[in-house]
Amino acid sequence: MDDQELVALAQAARGKAYAPYSHYDVGAALLTASGQVFTGCNVENAAYPMAICAERTAIVKAVSEGQREFIAIAIATRDGGSPCGACRQVMSEFAPHLRVLLADDAGHVRQFALDQLLPESFGPESLK
Ligand code: THU
Repeated sequence: MDDQELVALAQAARGKAYAPYSHYDVGAALLTASGQVFTGCNVENAAYPMAICAERTAIVKAVSEGQREFIAIAIATRDGGSPCGACRQVMSEFAPHLRVLLADDAGHVRQFALDQLLPESFGPESLK
């Protein structure tokens, strides 16, 4: 699974987004240490705060299937948008150094380490 393939899976997952309110479709593809990929999309709700982001959909799918070690996540939006703070925190719980690939419609990909996007984070170690 190379970066291009992961981005392609995120772009495909974006096609499943349910975003009738914001019209901002997001897809994610999360690569686990075991080589599996879990995809996710944003799922909005008429009660607006109930919306769940694509990244958290993918993380929750993976963890609920017993996977907790993550290598990379590709996130596809129209403009290569950056993950929200809540998603950064949830990704950091399991993979503070996760590779984050942000892809836009033109296929341009920006790459970060999660600890660049969420420095000095609060995590499991903080509670020891
Ligand atoms: N969204 C995501 O899916 N991931 C993010 O990291 C940022 C925001 C979604 C939530 C909502 O459905 C739409 O994008 C607009 O905020």
